[in-house]
Amino acid sequence: MAKTIQNLNSIYTIFITIFLFFFFFFLTLANAEAHRFSKPLSPSKHGLKREKLSHLHFYFHDILSGRNPTAVRVAEAPTTNTSLTAFGAVVVMDDPLTVGPELGSKLVGKAQGIYASASQSELGLLMAFNFVFVEGKYNGSTLSVLGRNSVLSEVREMPIVGGSGLFRFARGYAHASTHQVDFKTGDAIVEYNVYVFHY
Ligand SMILES: *[C@@H]1O[C@H](CO)[C@@H](O)[C@H](O)[C@H]1NC(C)=O
Ligand SMILES: *[C@@H]1O[C@H](CO)[C@@H](O)[C@H](O)[C@H]1NC(C)=O
Repeated sequence: MAKTIQNLNSIYTIFITIFLFFFFFFLTLANAEAHRFSKPLSPSKHGLKREKLSHLHFYFHDILSGRNPTAVRVAEAPTTNTSLTAFGAVVVMDDPLTVGPELGSKLVGKAQGIYASASQSELGLLMAFNFVFVEGKYNGSTLSVLGRNSVLSEVREMPIVGGSGLFRFARGYAHASTHQVDFKTGDAIVEYNVYVFHY
């Protein structure tokens, strides 16, 4: 009789132990669920169905002279003005982008950001800026450019490293070629061909 009671007691203890184990296990799991940091998502359920390739073509107006410059030098080194490559100059721009080479043609967006003279041996710029579009369905969408611009080369290639709005998950490249430049003022019109993958 005593033996049976002892057996029942140990079975009861084992049962309680298992119960408590699972109770705390699921409590911890539920807690982790409520504060989850990351989880895998299905791209199609997130609205990402088919990747598209788009080609954008426009002209970029970098105006340094006159009363309403679109690009302003904000910093330089003590040696920048005596450097043949303006090494150390940092410029902030809000340059209009138009469909045609004339400044008065239809505005499709702006190029907003920074370029810095980063080469001592040739005219080489570090470009870090966004194309901010205003045209049609692209209004409000942006593309981010981060690359090197050797401005005296015929065609310069810069990576498109991302985007927003219609250009979420964007990647691609931009080809820039100078359409017209005034070497006295530095004012330039640059033709851009942008090739970009996006959804
Ligand atoms: C360099 O040249 C710019 C433009 O001509 C001028 O505004 C600036 O004061 C000069 N900087 C130095 C350090 O001489
Ligand atoms: C672009 O969007 C802004 C803000 O949503 C709006 O005010 C503007 O009129 C739009 N521009 C064009 C060209 O559709």
